[in-house]
Amino acid sequence: MTVGISTAGVVGLGTMGAGIAEVLARAGLAVVAVEAAADLAAKGRDRIEQSLGRARDRGRLDPADYDATVARLTFTDSRTDLAAADLVVEAVPERLDLKTSLFDELDGICPPHTVFATNTSSLPVTRLAAATNRPARVVGMHFFNPAPVMRLVEVVHTVLTDTAVVDTVRDLATACGKTPVVVPDRAGFVVNALLFGYLNDAARMAETGRRTVDVLDRLVVEATGFPMGPLTLMDLIGLDVCVEVLEVMYDETRDRRYAPAPLLKRLVMAGHLGRKSGRGYYSYDGGDATPAVVVPLLDKTAVPEREQPGWVVERLVYPHLDDAVRMLDDNYASRDDIDTAMRLGCGYPRGPFALLDELGPGKVADALDRLGYPYSPLLRQL
Ligand SMILES: NC(=O)c1ccc[n+]([C@@H]2O[C@H](COP(=O)([O-])OP(=O)(O)OC[C@H]3O[C@@H](n4cnc5c(N)ncnc54)[C@H](O)[C@@H]3O)[C@@H](O)[C@H]2O)c1
Repeated sequence: MTVGISTAGVVGLGTMGAGIAEVLARAGLAVVAVEAAADLAAKGRDRIEQSLGRARDRGRLDPADYDATVARLTFTDSRTDLAAADLVVEAVPERLDLKTSLFDELDGICPPHTVFATNTSSLPVTRLAAATNRPARVVGMHFFNPAPVMRLVEVVHTVLTDTAVVDTVRDLATACGKTPVVVPDRAGFVVNALLFGYLNDAARMAETGRRTVDVLDRLVVEATGFPMGPLTLMDLIGLDVCVEVLEVMYDETRDRRYAPAPLLKRLVMAGHLGRKSGRGYYSYDGGDATPAVVVPLLDKTAVPEREQPGWVVERLVYPHLDDAVRMLDDNYASRDDIDTAMRLGCGYPRGPFALLDELGPGKVADALDRLGYPYSPLLRQL
């Protein structure tokens, strides 16, 4: 197993933690899986055993490996059991106070060599690290949902992290069959930083009433091969989660692109949270998705360019590609890492740079010029 890590702890066995515990146990680590109460720990065990059982029944996990994996997992409601862990991954709810007090408690339980990893999507890893007595041994380990399936792990280091710890965690992710992308701590890391500007643009466009939500989604999917349109994706993520992530992004960047679209915020206020509440941009009554947000077009003056289907794609997808170019220009992540992250984290058939190459960066820059969209100077150079 990976140098120095043979026992891992996972705290919080909800959507993400259960999947992460499964991934680590399948990779051969002894896993101490911790929940807040005994009944929740039992629920976590059921969830993981069911998932492993499905993998076995579908022939993806040998019956002997199933038994061995189950035997490597122990479930508890006592965080003191984490004293044996070389690495603890926390997957408790996305609240800074919860996560800092958990790491504070673990500081007193775990030996000094234990690495603390957070699965946070949007909180600053640096803030969590600075609140511990081992800031050099704290990293982000951002898995994607569902963790046993999605291959990407964003490994996030802070200005305080020891490089040997980053290497260890990256190697561990690889040993788990994942593809790690190592990046510094910045709001949204690679995937959410790129995704949410684009999703918010789509939310704003839905609000203009120039296209119904299904048409808007369809045009994007047809042009890009993305697995689903932006509004369908927002419904799947949860509109409340979208607003939370956008607010974190906006707080950090002060870029109005990330200021949540007014209608998006109103949908959340109305309790329309997407799939999980049965209604968001679409309504899911009876299983089928039917557009639930229809905005009347007040200004019926036709702007010929906007009537073209290509306008939607240029206005939504090209700025999304430009965001990737900006990220490269900022030296935040390499071209390959950005493409890998968007393919494996979002299911894009090709990454933004591969798509840009296909479209032609010059053509994208010309279209953005026409739209009056201020793009990265690097785009023109490309
Ligand atoms: N859901 C996603 O798609 C997704 C994707 C990537 C990252 N994340 C991040 O993963 C983290 C967890 O999200 P989730 O969706 O799995 O949440 P969740 O609400 O499904 O699960 C959280 C679990 O933590 C448990 N918990 C709370 N306090 C605890 C404590 N002190 N000790 C032990 N267990 C405790 C809760 O009982 C609950 O089961 C968040 O930081 C989130 O931002 C979520």
